[in-house]
Amino acid sequence: MRLLAVDDDPMIVLILKRIFAQEAEVISLDSGRAALAWLEDNVCDLMLLDYRMPDMDGFEVLRILRRHSQHDDLPVILLTGDTENGLETEGFALGATDFIRKPFVPDVVRHRVRRLVRYEYLKKHLEQEVGRKTLLAESRLSESRLLFREMVVALARTVDAKDKYTSGHSERVANYACRIAKLAGESEENQEKIYYMGMLHDIGKIGVAKSIINKQASLTPEEYASIQTHTVIGFQILQSIDVFPDLAMAARCHHERYDGKGYPEHLKGQDIPRFARILAVADAYDAMTSNRSYRRILPQAQVRKEILQGRGTQFDPEFADIMLGLIDEDVNYTMREMPQHVPGKEQEV
Ligand SMILES: [Fe+2]
Repeated sequence: MRLLAVDDDPMIVLILKRIFAQEAEVISLDSGRAALAWLEDNVCDLMLLDYRMPDMDGFEVLRILRRHSQHDDLPVILLTGDTENGLETEGFALGATDFIRKPFVPDVVRHRVRRLVRYEYLKKHLEQEVGRKTLLAESRLSESRLLFREMVVALARTVDAKDKYTSGHSERVANYACRIAKLAGESEENQEKIYYMGMLHDIGKIGVAKSIINKQASLTPEEYASIQTHTVIGFQILQSIDVFPDLAMAARCHHERYDGKGYPEHLKGQDIPRFARILAVADAYDAMTSNRSYRRILPQAQVRKEILQGRGTQFDPEFADIMLGLIDEDVNYTMREMPQHVPGKEQEV
């Protein structure tokens, strides 16, 4: 322990040195100015500062000291023989840590100093520990988010690999849905959520026969019914993810239609969850702008027409309008070839 005793009375300094002879190094200085100069290049655990000194009093020293960030948390005990009203109040306001009145009892001084130094030590270590743990928690969070994202990408690619005609479908739908959500004023957090919902919306196709998914001829009613089960299968696969229930919802509801003629629940209008209504437009856009087993990419004008026709019947008008806006901006019809953007990725290391 290193104490700085600042007092113009050599007797007081001597007493303090005796009190702490066994447990601390006591640096003594006889003026505030000398103390401030010493503190420029040195450190101590606590300062015992006389209030009444010629030239510069204890308050003035304290005032200057607290302006320097390097010493703004140095514990300072003011020593005073004055009993003036309001002195302590003013001292505390200036940043004094404690007061000891002269003449003092050696044991009281010893206990107060020990307690304050110990408190400062614990406070500093606690702050360091909190900082260290926070960094660790942030790094673990960042790692688990990265792992989650990569797992989702792997799962989406597993689904898309089953259908040789829809490679990259899930990622493109995720991106379109994310763009629509952004333009619809959704928060960044929701944009990221809908991105993941888009990535996994078709996961239920894992449970549908590959021969049906890849069939080039038209589907029989039974085969079409089997394809439709991918919504419910997807829901069943994802419903165990309690922390992100929207994932299961999106898988279940992305083929619902605004007019109630969709599946599996025939939900209508605003009864269809908002994110699923966004996904429905994104999904349809990608279906029309990529090659399928049953047809080639449609010309952009036709895609636009289909979205417009579906406005208010197949699609929520709000999101159909946003999609139409995106199509109109896409003068060269290259949106479907754009590099994929993953929301939130740039913020992480
Ligand atoms: Fe689907």
